[in-house]
Amino acid sequence: MSFRTTSAIDYVEDVSPGSGALPPRARYASSDARSLSLNGSWRFRLSPTADAEDDSFAAQGFDAGGWAEVSVPGHWVLQGHGSPIYTNHLYPFPVDPPRVPTKNPTGDHLHTFDLPSDWPSDGGAVLRFDGVESCARVWLNGTDIGEFKGSRLPHEFAVGHLLKPGGNVLAVRVHQWSAGSYLEDQDQWWLPGIFRDVTLLHRPAGGVLDFFVHASYDHVEGLGTLRVDSDVDGRVTVPGLDIDVATGESVTVPVRPWTAETPRLYDGVLATEGERVPLRVGFRTVVLEDGLIKVNGTPLLFKGVNRHEWHPERGRALDLETMREDVLLMKRHNINAVRTSHYPPHPAFLDLCDEYGLWVVDECDLETHGFTEQAWRDNPVDDDRWTPALLDRAARMVERDKNHPSVVIWSLGNEAGTGRGLTAMAEWIRGRDGSRLIHYEGDIDCRDTDVYSRMYADHAEVDRIGRGLDGGTHRRRGLPFILCEYGHAMGNGPGGIADYQHLFESYDRIQGGFIWEWIDHGIKDERFGFAYGGDFGEELHDGNFVCDGLLFPDRTPSPGLVEYKKVIEPVRIVGDRADGTVRVTNAYDFADLSALTFEWSYQVDGETVESGVLPVPELAPGESADVKLPDPPADPRGGETQWTVRATLAADTAWGPRDHLVAWAQFPLSPRPLTVVARSDGPVLGKGQITLGPAAFDARTGALRSIGGIDVRGLRLDVWRAPTDNDNGAAWQPDLRYGPLWRELGLHRMQHRLNSVELGDDALTVRTRVAPAAREVALRTVYRWTSDGTRLRLTVSVAPEGDWRLPLPRLGIRLGLAGSVDGARWFGGGPGEAYPDTTSASMVGRWESTIDALQTPYVRPQENGARADVRWVEIGGLRVEGEPEFWFTARRWTSEQLDAAEHPTDLKAGDTVWVNLDHGQQGIGSQSCGPGALPQYQLRPAPAEFTFLFSEIHG
Ligand code: GAL
Repeated sequence: MSFRTTSAIDYVEDVSPGSGALPPRARYASSDARSLSLNGSWRFRLSPTADAEDDSFAAQGFDAGGWAEVSVPGHWVLQGHGSPIYTNHLYPFPVDPPRVPTKNPTGDHLHTFDLPSDWPSDGGAVLRFDGVESCARVWLNGTDIGEFKGSRLPHEFAVGHLLKPGGNVLAVRVHQWSAGSYLEDQDQWWLPGIFRDVTLLHRPAGGVLDFFVHASYDHVEGLGTLRVDSDVDGRVTVPGLDIDVATGESVTVPVRPWTAETPRLYDGVLATEGERVPLRVGFRTVVLEDGLIKVNGTPLLFKGVNRHEWHPERGRALDLETMREDVLLMKRHNINAVRTSHYPPHPAFLDLCDEYGLWVVDECDLETHGFTEQAWRDNPVDDDRWTPALLDRAARMVERDKNHPSVVIWSLGNEAGTGRGLTAMAEWIRGRDGSRLIHYEGDIDCRDTDVYSRMYADHAEVDRIGRGLDGGTHRRRGLPFILCEYGHAMGNGPGGIADYQHLFESYDRIQGGFIWEWIDHGIKDERFGFAYGGDFGEELHDGNFVCDGLLFPDRTPSPGLVEYKKVIEPVRIVGDRADGTVRVTNAYDFADLSALTFEWSYQVDGETVESGVLPVPELAPGESADVKLPDPPADPRGGETQWTVRATLAADTAWGPRDHLVAWAQFPLSPRPLTVVARSDGPVLGKGQITLGPAAFDARTGALRSIGGIDVRGLRLDVWRAPTDNDNGAAWQPDLRYGPLWRELGLHRMQHRLNSVELGDDALTVRTRVAPAAREVALRTVYRWTSDGTRLRLTVSVAPEGDWRLPLPRLGIRLGLAGSVDGARWFGGGPGEAYPDTTSASMVGRWESTIDALQTPYVRPQENGARADVRWVEIGGLRVEGEPEFWFTARRWTSEQLDAAEHPTDLKAGDTVWVNLDHGQQGIGSQSCGPGALPQYQLRPAPAEFTFLFSEIHG
């Protein structure tokens, strides 16, 4: 006979959202009612199971003196108790909903506090938790006040009757795993803890309860209509608009509308008998009209990012300054939209979005992705028992965030399959707030949603969708399209985003997209720099898939963000060489160009010789003007010339300083004159070596040894690059994944067979065959060296042999210079790295860098740091010119060492700086989750010839 007892921890595995909490309501940042932050150092005890300890710790008088301490907000696994786990979509426990493992790390938290001496004695009080992962039970002064789930959602409890002036004991038991964990399978670290603020709010008699600010904008009449519905009657005043009305009453006045580009907020007050709450009112109207998402009558183009909350030391416990940094970085990189993947963010983040201007897709805390492993059987979103929990989550999001003008779309969640529960959420949201649209990517037929949304669709499919040739349900065919995720920014990349942007701008139906994702979730770690999945010994993990952001974990912009900024710039500048004009187009949706100043400059061989103001009219959105450039200055040097036009902020703004670069373009005028090198010298065979002009070669192998006084090591053809995350692709990708295929073919272990060393009258010719063991494919490679006595010219000819089925990683030469070399100067693309499909932000000019700064510190080491379109580079006393332009890379380790490294700490500088001079590079693509490099960016083996001119720099 078996039986089961009901136990004190049954709530952990209960599908219900919890008990004891107050109904959800609007969040406001401040009010004249008192509040007390309970953040700080709390006593903490970790237990291995949910019921290892009884609840006696919650009783008053319990002595927790021997306990550890943790910071609240915080995650205990980032404070030395247990460790984080990273999985993408796999549940790190057996899928047996709603049951969770017996091994269920449980953190008991204790905090003792006094009320301030002037804390009002009347009214009530509310205890608010802004976020606890994943399930908490709460006691105040020994009384059990309830338990809740819904990690990234607020929960409030009425506690006035329990408070004492001094010695209040707040006890919170937090379980890492609960039924709620099944609804929170987002691709991120599992990080238990009280990770958002805990606050005690005084609730005066007659104080504000819930309220809903309805502020719409009539773009035809230029009028705003305001109505504040409030559970407690009161008055609404907006002094700047002379508004003074009762709650529930509408008023219409001329206003300036709120948009992400022009985030006009009007300060107001909601005053009830007992409380005054400041309002920040933004008037705007969101509609679905003509199959388009329109705000204030204008269709939007989202230039967005997916943002998880992340801090490399504090995890998802973010402070205000970090949130502000995110918003400022977004604004400074031309980003206009955020999807709060995949849960409502800390509420202060939305205040910042209102203030600085970002369109927000506010996403509910819901993902059940792990059920895909079992063909979605038992998926909670299609099981009525879970529907109350889903509706609770929807309500907690909508009620909390409904007064933010920045929020234009509600998203039901992410990757939760399909089911009745989602439909119920959508219906509830529509009933509560008809003023916004509804999004959910998993609803492929758009039964419940207002926008057709996909992730990682390739360019060709987006093009078909743009043309309306994608089929789909009747409803879907009439809806706008967005890519809620694209451009997977894992490691080096994403590539191909300029090609996406071109599609977005070609079809009205396509209203933009959101790059996956904003920031790498690397955890600061002494051992590795930044840790990723597996670094904590997890039995199941998804490695560095958690590091796929446009920012490195410490918020340094990666080259991907610099590229994105350029791709989405809000001004298009196109030069016309023939008539000396530039066409400037305002690509904002709402703002004119009055905030920008335009400047032209003229470069000869990459050096600016003249510059001046370019008078651009204050174009309205969508308008263009042709603006005449001055006559080009006389150029006595006869060098390569180009124009550069830059648009910068004309004055300091809330998010960027005056002179901040917003948009730019370059267009060439006269091409680069090529250097002619007479073949005046011939090779001379000496004792064990051949000399040719300034160079010495090994007589037997024909290998270059030195140029003048500079030793050169191991110069030879190189095709290998340390595969990028995008080269490797994701395991589930059906397409060709070149990283593994390259390795299988043996491109990382090419052998160089010497066929001949030929001394001609004016040239040294070395013939080789470069091929991997076990294969018949090869690259016949001929090095032809000539000299005019001081300069050395190398022409490399490469002829593929055999049946090549794969593109090459790279094609060029590699050479080694002394390890003491510490920097490089070059004329070409810069300042940052670029690859064939990530060149948008590469600006042609004169640049310099240390060798160390040439490296891009991807959290998992991989190919990086190439500079594009290089005309010449000076490094280690050597000047190298290329015909045609080339890609230049220099590092203190070989590509093989880079390839072997798992963390940057594995890379040790050797006694050589390895330089790659590449004729070609394979594109990057975004196959770590999306499509690979487009055909035009692939480096297909084909006969090739390229030349480098070497000379020693004297003086
Ligand atoms: C998507 C998912 C994201 C993330 C991304 C890959 O499928 O929505 O949460 O996992 O793929 O990095």
